[in-house]
Amino acid sequence: MLQERIADLAKFVEPDRVRKEVYTDAAIFELEMQRIHEKYWIYCGHESQVPKAGDYYTVQVGRQPMLLVRGKDKKVHVLYNRCPHRGNMMCGDRHGNTGEFFRCSYHAWTFQHDGKLRSIPMMESGYAGTRYGKDNPDCSMKRAARVESYRGFVFASLAADGPTLKEFLGESKIAFDDMCDRAPGGEVEVVPNCFRVIQHSNWKIFLENQLDALHPSVVHQSTGRAAHEVEKDIANKTGKAPLSYHMLSAFATVTIDKWDNFQTLNYPHGHCILTGYMGLRPKDPDTLAYEKVMHQAYGKKRTEEILGVNIHHVLIYPGLSVQSPLQQLRAVRPLGVDKTLTEIWHFRLKGAPEPIYRRSLAYYNLVNSPSTMINADDLENFWKCQQGLASDGGDWVSFGRFHGRDLEKDGVVETGPNMGTSEAPMRNQMKAWAQFMGGAR
Ligand code: FES
Ligand SMILES: [Fe+2]
Repeated sequence: MLQERIADLAKFVEPDRVRKEVYTDAAIFELEMQRIHEKYWIYCGHESQVPKAGDYYTVQVGRQPMLLVRGKDKKVHVLYNRCPHRGNMMCGDRHGNTGEFFRCSYHAWTFQHDGKLRSIPMMESGYAGTRYGKDNPDCSMKRAARVESYRGFVFASLAADGPTLKEFLGESKIAFDDMCDRAPGGEVEVVPNCFRVIQHSNWKIFLENQLDALHPSVVHQSTGRAAHEVEKDIANKTGKAPLSYHMLSAFATVTIDKWDNFQTLNYPHGHCILTGYMGLRPKDPDTLAYEKVMHQAYGKKRTEEILGVNIHHVLIYPGLSVQSPLQQLRAVRPLGVDKTLTEIWHFRLKGAPEPIYRRSLAYYNLVNSPSTMINADDLENFWKCQQGLASDGGDWVSFGRFHGRDLEKDGVVETGPNMGTSEAPMRNQMKAWAQFMGGAR
């Protein structure tokens, strides 16, 4: 039965629309986990989350509970969070330090940080003449098939074959270059811990929303307007309102027609970039002090190149949304066909003055955190989409805005002039989805 439906998957995706089952069918979800999330490169965490030998962080890759762990050799390993003896979960805490080695809490088998079996209680007497022991790889913790990192951001692929991380990321690696280059020290470090939000909607709904330039001035209008009123009040009274109000009021002042001025660039593997930095490069003393430190680190010309990068958002399919100029990212962890965990992480620019960190922290709290109204506005719509899609009110989700008007060059699809609200990013993601699922036409 499932086999027949798998063969039919191509019928679920057309260039400008997608069947609703893609968001609601539990069997399709299982297949997505096998063919996409447990196969292609998934973000596990940043190297600075595990600075010392024995530091670990648990992370979900597809349906698999994994461990990110720093070894004594300084290498970062990604292991299945499972004891090979009787299957016990190795680390029950979200993160911590395992000491010199992992020790299973059930029967005390121990393992090196790279997962290799270290000891079994009374191994010689208990296992003499059996197939179990140090030479049997089945007695070690299983490792992710491939682990690679780019500028400190660690990814794992649970499939032995496939493109390298760099090949897979392609142009989308600019997300990490833009983030790290903005640091006078050339790298970022994680700000512990992250926010975690469980959304009652399919994982693709969140990703499709990230580069949906039509929605902000609709969905976030009321929040933007309220912030704008207060901003004006403060400015009238004091002559100048804090920049944090601008982060919210922009949702009202950048009206729906202005979003067409933005542009999206859509790349192979479903990755997309939304251009248009939010203009957070004012000439206040904090910014000028930061620019001075950047000049010392890079020289004037290179500093201008770095600060001139015009990116608002990079979507790295199938599980990452990065706002590089503000040093934050959201990782998507699908939990079920209508349940998705997002981790919202924030990074500090090494060597940048404290007020610059405070500014991006304000954006993190005001726009991306679970307590902001912006996030609540989005979550309400994601949930309502899932409810509507589960109904018999229609069979298709449409991605037809500016369809046929995009410009394609060397495999990159650019939205045309003044077509920033094109649904090209959603079409691009579903194109990759169909390819990955093996149902491309
Ligand atoms: S289940 Fe881990 S040592 Fe027995
Ligand atoms: Fe939004």
